Amino acid sequence: MLEAPEKNLALDIVRITEAAALASARWLGRGDRDAGDNAAVQAMRICFSTLNIDGTVIIGEGKKDNAPMLANGEKVGKGGELSLDVAVDPVEGTSLLAYGRPNAISVVAVSPKGSMFNLGPSYYMQKLVVGSEARDVIDLDAPISMNLKNVAKALGKTVQDLVVFVLDKPRHKRLIEEIRQAGARIQLQTDGDVIGALMAVDPHSEVDIMTGTGGTPEGVLSACAIKGLGGQILARLDPQSYVEKETINEAGIDLREVLSVNDLIRGKDCFFAATGISGGDFLRGVRYSSRYAVTHSLVLRGKTGTLRYVESFHNMDRLSKFSAVQY
Ligand code: FBP
Repeated sequence: MLEAPEKNLALDIVRITEAAALASARWLGRGDRDAGDNAAVQAMRICFSTLNIDGTVIIGEGKKDNAPMLANGEKVGKGGELSLDVAVDPVEGTSLLAYGRPNAISVVAVSPKGSMFNLGPSYYMQKLVVGSEARDVIDLDAPISMNLKNVAKALGKTVQDLVVFVLDKPRHKRLIEEIRQAGARIQLQTDGDVIGALMAVDPHSEVDIMTGTGGTPEGVLSACAIKGLGGQILARLDPQSYVEKETINEAGIDLREVLSVNDLIRGKDCFFAATGISGGDFLRGVRYSSRYAVTHSLVLRGKTGTLRYVESFHNMDRLSKFSAVQY
């Protein structure tokens, strides 16, 4: 049966990521990771309180590095009939923001209650992300050279044409060597594998694949956007310390299981928004003029796959007179 267009929650949550980006952008390059994160967390909390949703934070942030956080289990929204799982990363790339590097973004995703992967005690997961044209040809257990060959074929390119996004971490030394040996190009970034995943699935970006081990919360957040754009993420929990591994084992979670986009977000009804904080090629950072602060965001609805890029002009004089959010 045909349906009338439903409310697109992504257009509500983009106001939250915009507010968090505006609040934290003041801390660009000031060397204080917690201050930028804290400003974004406070802005998000205030903005969530305007929405008629009964939200529960399933994917919060902060535990891994004791940063300020919207804690897992925290209720957000005014309440109402719409019960939602909520994933937040007020500042994805706290170091990028603190040290004035590109690609810090603010991110929120929501989906119906019970549909988001519960990460339990896991902090890290191995990830392989591609866009829709290559979604059926990747295999987390295959060597990276094989994945590169298959993705190149699916995209009608050569392996030498490909760009692979990898976090520049000591744990990726071998992976980076193998990608270089296979002949693909690499975009190495110190932080921010959510933007890496977004670039891998957005056909407008030069990145074709995102791979390596990064945060588990970031994996679930990325999955929401990947679902919207029709791509694929294959992931496996990849504990980076003895304690993390033991706690996962004690919780009875199988460390060998390969998770796909449909395991990380069940169903299609998810919504995703991300706003640039520090400038990058993909999402521009917050810019100030004499009257306005300008934000640039990506907004996605899972069910329809509608992708919007939103440029917003915020009148800071007016906002400063009544807004509870500290810009
Ligand atoms: P933060 O904003 O929490 O610092 O996360 C940045 C990030 O680079 C993520 O994009 C990535 O998933 C994770 O950290 C990797 O963790 P680590 O820096 O500990 O290797």
